Amino acid sequence: MKRILICGANGLLGQRLSLMLSTQSDYEVLNTSVERSYVYDNKLFDYNQLDITNRSDVKSLISSFQPNVIMNAAAATNVDWCESNREETWKINVTAVENLVEASRKVGAQLIHVSTDYVFDGKNGPYDETAKPNPLGYYGKTKLASENAIRSEAIRHTIIRTIVLYGSGIRVKANFALWVVNSLKVGKQITVVDDQIGNPTFVGDLAMAMIKAFELNREGIFHIGGGDQLSRYDFAIQAAEVFNLDASLIMRIKTSDLIQTSPRPMISGFITLKAETQLGMRFLNVKEGLTLLKHELQSNGNN
Ligand SMILES: NC(=O)c1ccc[n+]([C@@H]2O[C@H](COP(=O)([O-])OP(=O)(O)OC[C@H]3O[C@@H](n4cnc5c(N)ncnc54)[C@H](OP(=O)(O)O)[C@@H]3O)[C@@H](O)[C@H]2O)c1
Repeated sequence: MKRILICGANGLLGQRLSLMLSTQSDYEVLNTSVERSYVYDNKLFDYNQLDITNRSDVKSLISSFQPNVIMNAAAATNVDWCESNREETWKINVTAVENLVEASRKVGAQLIHVSTDYVFDGKNGPYDETAKPNPLGYYGKTKLASENAIRSEAIRHTIIRTIVLYGSGIRVKANFALWVVNSLKVGKQITVVDDQIGNPTFVGDLAMAMIKAFELNREGIFHIGGGDQLSRYDFAIQAAEVFNLDASLIMRIKTSDLIQTSPRPMISGFITLKAETQLGMRFLNVKEGLTLLKHELQSNGNN
């Protein structure tokens, strides 16, 4: 039976991977994250606390579990926090990945790691996998450094870059779509930029791409993004429509009107042809993804 180690299993992506993989009888899955407790009942799925910045803990857990694949969904993901907490960010986004690389090499595991469109400067998106990275902010710099740490070592690896991730989960941090929906539900007016472009990605698509990369034994870099390229403002308007909320509460602004600690790539987005052909996937467009999100929130009693 193939063994799968998930790191960051309590996060938005990690939870999704956990659910999709732990329910399959062909796999033995060990879920891990930095917290002592697991968002799902650890009698339901196996869970171990693991802080991936701790080199000796990573080494000993991986040498005892002997995974065939390590899926890394753990990261410091708050872009503005990363800009002003550089030492901690480097530890989580780079040093920890070096620990996983070292341990993967020892046991011969494939490492599937997640990166971001923030490795690009957003001057001329959408980008394919051959585009030259040029990160603007510290978060993007650390994610690019994590990619380089993986690529410079002779281990089997897959780097999955994604963009504007959204979805639901248990006690997940508010992603852009949830923030829009939750604000409009309570009648709160919000300001949204209309000059940051990208293709929002439904979390289930990202998790499935990682699973396919493992099952089909695909290595290298893949760009994963939703089927629509649009501005944050247009994404928010579509969310209002799908959730039957008041779109007039959404005010259009420019990025220059905001005070953000870290710079953002403006004209970003991913060309996903390689993933579509090599992973055999079709990515949800915004309307489809938001409709699924709506159903998930409703079935969790969160409408
Ligand atoms: N969200 C986006 O829009 C977006 C876009 C592009 C790429 N990505 C990438 O996609 C991946 C998944 O993102 P996400 O949105 O699912 O993030 P998330 O919800 O913030 O989940 C990350 C998880 O990693 C955990 N973690 C942090 N430090 C750890 C450590 N030292 N050891 C073990 N676990 C640790 C976090 O725990 P705590 O919460 O307790 O810190 C959290 O549960 C990341 O690599 C991210 O960079 C995200």
